[in-house]
Amino acid sequence: MIYISKPHITEAEKSAVIEVLNSGMLAQGKKTAELEERFAAVCETRHAVATSSGTTGLYLTLLAHGIGEGDEVITTSFTFIASTSSVLFTGARPVFVDIEEETFNIDPKKIEAVITPKTKAILPVHLYGHPCDMETIMAIAERHGLQVIEDAAQAVGAKYRGKPVGGFGTGVFSLYATKNVMSGEGGMITTDDDQLAEHLRMLRSHGMKERYYHEMLGYNFRTSDLHAAIGVEQIKRIDELTEKRRKNAAYLNEHLEGVITPTARPEVEHVWHQYTIRVPGDRDRAIEHLHESGVGTGIFYPVPVHKQGYIQELVGEVSLPVTERLAEEVISLPVHPSLTQQDLETIVEAVNSI
Ligand SMILES: Cc1ncc(COP(=O)(O)O)c(C=O)c1O
Repeated sequence: MIYISKPHITEAEKSAVIEVLNSGMLAQGKKTAELEERFAAVCETRHAVATSSGTTGLYLTLLAHGIGEGDEVITTSFTFIASTSSVLFTGARPVFVDIEEETFNIDPKKIEAVITPKTKAILPVHLYGHPCDMETIMAIAERHGLQVIEDAAQAVGAKYRGKPVGGFGTGVFSLYATKNVMSGEGGMITTDDDQLAEHLRMLRSHGMKERYYHEMLGYNFRTSDLHAAIGVEQIKRIDELTEKRRKNAAYLNEHLEGVITPTARPEVEHVWHQYTIRVPGDRDRAIEHLHESGVGTGIFYPVPVHKQGYIQELVGEVSLPVTERLAEEVISLPVHPSLTQQDLETIVEAVNSI
């Protein structure tokens, strides 16, 4: 079976972890600082703050932006639950906007219609590694005095008009095991704002700047140097890993027939966290055929966030026709850097004979 995702692990990751183990210093320390520095360089931001996950990164970012009870945050429903659950944990209310059919991302044309006096932030999700239309989103945010928190969990290294995502608003990334750059578990927040970065570092670790002097209420949302050691080796190879994904996606785009293939807008550098085709009609049968042909698949995501039971109870009925239709059509295919030419040919043959 060709797996839908596969972490790209080399001897470098293995020896980096062993080095940390041998050092006896396992908790957040030098390796985490190195990962933060390298991550900030990739995102071209002044700061990167490592967290225990993308989810805790989103939550801390919302808190540090002062978002809470009585506030509204505009986002999409065609995403992983954490884009919304992090908003709910602050006490704020998610307000869903439909997506663009072409990119699966928030449709900026529909944002202004849902802005109210309670709206505090826009939380666009760069889904599958394709950047959102940041020019339009930033212009709307500026016009209405809103903050922008980019859910860039799937999009490390992606660029919009030459500028890395995570540098438009405050960026939040995931380093979960299947992500383009991973550390097993982990997250990263990027910002140019010195004060915000300091606030995030304190929220992340018990409100401390100096050990055991607690200046504010804080959590333990730290990562460890064991995880960071993996992340450092991964981010050193980001260009190579991304290039492989791009080549795999280009090959599939060139050879697949009879399905709707994904596109990258000319103004973006897509990093292909997922390669997602659309199969209107009998998706289940198509998936069965792909599995019988040895091709692993994923559905990201079968139930849009606003249709999840507990969310529906909280936000009521919302009409998001594009989201609902695409949730029934999408199938993600393997695009990860470990695919061989033979794997790509197997995928093409299986898809073209659906
Ligand atoms: C779009 C999106 N947002 C947030 C997250 C949460 O990241 P994590 O799994 O690291 O908590 C993920 C990761 O799966 C994601 O895909």
